[in-house]
Amino acid sequence: MSDAPRAPAATLVIFGAMGDLARRLLVPALVNLSRDGLIDEATTILGVSHHDADDDALREALDDFIEDQDSWSKLRDRVAYLKGDFEQASTFAALAERVKGNAVFYLATAPNFFGPVVDALADAGLLDEGAGFRRVVIEKPFGHDLTSAQALNARILARAEEQQIYRIDHFLGKETVQNIMVARFGNVMLGAVWNNRYIDHVQITAAEAVTVGTRGKFYDSTGALRDMVPNHLFQLLALIGMEPPNSFDADAIRTEKSKVIAAAKPVPPEDAVRGRYEAGTIAGKPVAAYLEEAEVDPTGRTETYAALKVQVETWRWSGVPFYLRTGKGLTARDTEIVVQFRDVPIALFRGTKAAGCPWGNRLRLQLQPNEGLSLEFVAKVPGPVMETAPVSMDFHYADRFAVGHQTGYETLLYDVLTGDQTLFQRADQIEGGWRVVQPLLDAWRAGEPEGYAAGSAGPAGADALIARDGRCWSELA
Ligand code: BG6
Repeated sequence: MSDAPRAPAATLVIFGAMGDLARRLLVPALVNLSRDGLIDEATTILGVSHHDADDDALREALDDFIEDQDSWSKLRDRVAYLKGDFEQASTFAALAERVKGNAVFYLATAPNFFGPVVDALADAGLLDEGAGFRRVVIEKPFGHDLTSAQALNARILARAEEQQIYRIDHFLGKETVQNIMVARFGNVMLGAVWNNRYIDHVQITAAEAVTVGTRGKFYDSTGALRDMVPNHLFQLLALIGMEPPNSFDADAIRTEKSKVIAAAKPVPPEDAVRGRYEAGTIAGKPVAAYLEEAEVDPTGRTETYAALKVQVETWRWSGVPFYLRTGKGLTARDTEIVVQFRDVPIALFRGTKAAGCPWGNRLRLQLQPNEGLSLEFVAKVPGPVMETAPVSMDFHYADRFAVGHQTGYETLLYDVLTGDQTLFQRADQIEGGWRVVQPLLDAWRAGEPEGYAAGSAGPAGADALIARDGRCWSELA
């Protein structure tokens, strides 16, 4: 049981209830919330989709994905199903009959339905807040470039208030991501050195060992840049770069994050590299090249890796590059942020200034796996000779807290039900992210990504990108 207050009762309407997201993540997260006593017992789930099904069929489709059968049994009877086409007014008329009071409309659908569903909800009066709150949750991808994101925001905001819209970025549901703000603003020692006087550069990495697998159709029209950078990686950049908010109110925090994204300069193509995995070996298993994956255009130019250098022109960050990289089919799964501090002004101790890449003198936020935080610095090796060695102070979440099995959606769903928008993207953040990467989207319509062997650390061009500035990537571990 948690000490947090219980969320108010509501109907959670899930569009796309038979899909993977609902079954693997949303409903299991609700079960966890219910186990922790965080949702009201009168909360109901209404799944909507075009499949021929009924209440029992939906419940059965959900059964397999739930670990905690005990808590599920309490929620299971409150799951209902409505068959309906997302583009038919009759679906929304039927919904209006069944939804009274507080409601959350969760769009776990293909992105082409986001605009039409919001319009149809508004037409049916389902977004009018007279009888209770009415909130809309929108998954990514939110647009596929700056123009489409602006158009989608304009369309949605013509029918609903910004306060009703919850644009999901599931990275913000991760405990370690939320810890960035706590680490920064709860510890004066970090705050004191958190600027361009002491920080040399920042690296933000989201590396995945998995390949595209069965997601070829989606991924081939998306690519690594769109899939990860303007959303997930920019949210991390904003949390590292934001000024302290003047309160912990959602909008105070969102405004500070937006300011950082707004200060990021559009990335010129020469400051970015794209890659595509070739055949290779990952964890001892042979892996086929991306172009041979199912539902991938073998003549296409979709990238599976992107690296870029982002300049944030603020008083705090001017001159401190943020290097971002993400990719699939890499040597390891590793989501981390490395804050590299500047060298000491004079290398007083022999051996402190190793040739090549610097070591030590940095803070590493390990977001996943092995969640934690480490401070790497140099210490004296015992003995009569002055010799130094890199050492590290490590904090592992699992050593200190009962982390438990969470889907990552628990906090996000709880926040939607309690009306806290802190962990959701505001329209200006989404558009800001697209604005920064738009020159790359334009440039990458031509040319080809650089090949890298599956199971490697990425294309050689990414190493050259950072080496050009006399720096190097932290090792993927
Ligand atoms: C999703 C992307 O948003 O994030 C996926 O569409 C990616 O391609 C995933 O694998 C990574 O998230 P996580 O939580 O597994 O790091």
